[in-house]
Amino acid sequence: MSARDQLVIFDTTLRDGEQSPGASMTQDEKLRIAKALERMRVDVIEAGFAIASQGDFESVQAIANTIKDSTICSLSRAMDADIDRAAEALKNANSGRIHTFIATSPIHMEYKLRMTPEQVIEHAVRSVKRARNQVADVEFSCEDAGRSDIDFMCRIVEAVIDAGATTINVPDTVGYAVPSQYGNTIRQLIERIPNSDKAIFSVHCHNDLGLAVANSLDAVMNGARQVECTINGLGERAGNASLEEVVMAIKTRPDFFNVDTNIRTEEIVSTSRLVSSVTGFPVQPNKAIVGANAFAHESGIHQDGVIKHRETYEIMRAEDVGWNANKMVMGKHSGRSAFRARLEELGTVFDTEKELNEAFARFKSLADKKHEIFDEDLQALVSDTKKFVASERYSFVSLSVCSNTGDVPNCDINISVDGVEQKASSEGAGPVDATFKAIEKVANSGTELALFSVNAITGGTDSQGEVTVRLESGGRVINGRGADIDIVVASAKAYLDALNHLASDAGSKDHPQKSGV
Ligand code: KIV
Ligand code: ZN
Repeated sequence: MSARDQLVIFDTTLRDGEQSPGASMTQDEKLRIAKALERMRVDVIEAGFAIASQGDFESVQAIANTIKDSTICSLSRAMDADIDRAAEALKNANSGRIHTFIATSPIHMEYKLRMTPEQVIEHAVRSVKRARNQVADVEFSCEDAGRSDIDFMCRIVEAVIDAGATTINVPDTVGYAVPSQYGNTIRQLIERIPNSDKAIFSVHCHNDLGLAVANSLDAVMNGARQVECTINGLGERAGNASLEEVVMAIKTRPDFFNVDTNIRTEEIVSTSRLVSSVTGFPVQPNKAIVGANAFAHESGIHQDGVIKHRETYEIMRAEDVGWNANKMVMGKHSGRSAFRARLEELGTVFDTEKELNEAFARFKSLADKKHEIFDEDLQALVSDTKKFVASERYSFVSLSVCSNTGDVPNCDINISVDGVEQKASSEGAGPVDATFKAIEKVANSGTELALFSVNAITGGTDSQGEVTVRLESGGRVINGRGADIDIVVASAKAYLDALNHLASDAGSKDHPQKSGV
């Protein structure tokens, strides 16, 4: 029997995931996610694109300074300034990687880069050498590899391996590939490139045709030993390959895949929830592995089978991915140190005593209304507290809504704007519509509401509702999140959160794939 290989899991939730419109995260939110990824034993965390903005640089730096067990990576175009900025951000990492890329497809080279293939090779080699002078671990990507010429990729990849690249990534940037063709491309690259044994071959698939996971797995069958993926499949357009699906396919079918990962799969569900709550991208109920229905056996026939012998209808155990691990952690009698300890286990460290005191007061108030407090409740509570303590421009004070059958709903709201309370009232089609209209009487933001969604954070009718509001303004898309037992209050908090994101300058950052070299 041949020895099993190790498959490197490279998570790009914080970089490619954050490129989804509306998914931008604060440094604190990124750190919380990075800690969850480290706990899950992700091998490489792509923390961001350091040159994109000062905020992105500081986020990569903070993650590099904090995370010890995973390699921290920064993306950079094949440009000197990008590479130097990435190296600077990674300076204190225990293990740092620079990921540099340039497009290799005819359409990208001609229309986006306006460069000849020879110039592209020259840029790639020069960038990899520059990166290798600063870190030992360098990844090179052929952007739009899915539509690139295989002979040209063989040439450029051979040259960058000679220049010191240690990982070669073959992204299907536009989600165009189909599994057997993509797997075959990986096999050919490995077989034809004379120095291919000096690098790990990696795949990075987008999900435009719903094939990202299938393409990644076919590539693994054909020799890829790193998969780039995101939690919940978050990512540009239709997203990236989903980490949980790739990892669980590998774990569930050891007869088929001759590789293992380091992932602690029991951390999957809590990490999925954290990413969903931080970004405001809900997980669809029938999403594989992490959807609420993924392990629910509704039909009588299935239930009967599962009760008699679990494997009749279950191919994985719910507890292996962390379902049922959301045990009731605390109630109204839990003390401050138990509260702090549980949050530390979840990766949250309070920056100040003020933050801890505020969070604990909120916890007590929640525990008065809801006697079972789950990890998900705590995560939502931490998000709310951090926003409150950060003294953002808008914050929720109180509201009163009146909604009787046959009458026009009305909302009276009190919000704080730069520390000064302001009141407004409005009617609306429903209580939420009335609330948003009342807020707009104060904020006058000129935005359009693009999405409104409500999810229960936990089970039961006393669950907190988690609301996502997406606003659009002048081409910018901003998500806001809010959680509360009262879903109208959660809606108001989510709307105000989106307005706060709009007021911050998070929109002014560089997109890695827009400008090119
Ligand atoms: O999809 C893509 O090509 C990318 C690269 C920057 C790796 O995200
Ligand atoms: Zn991508």
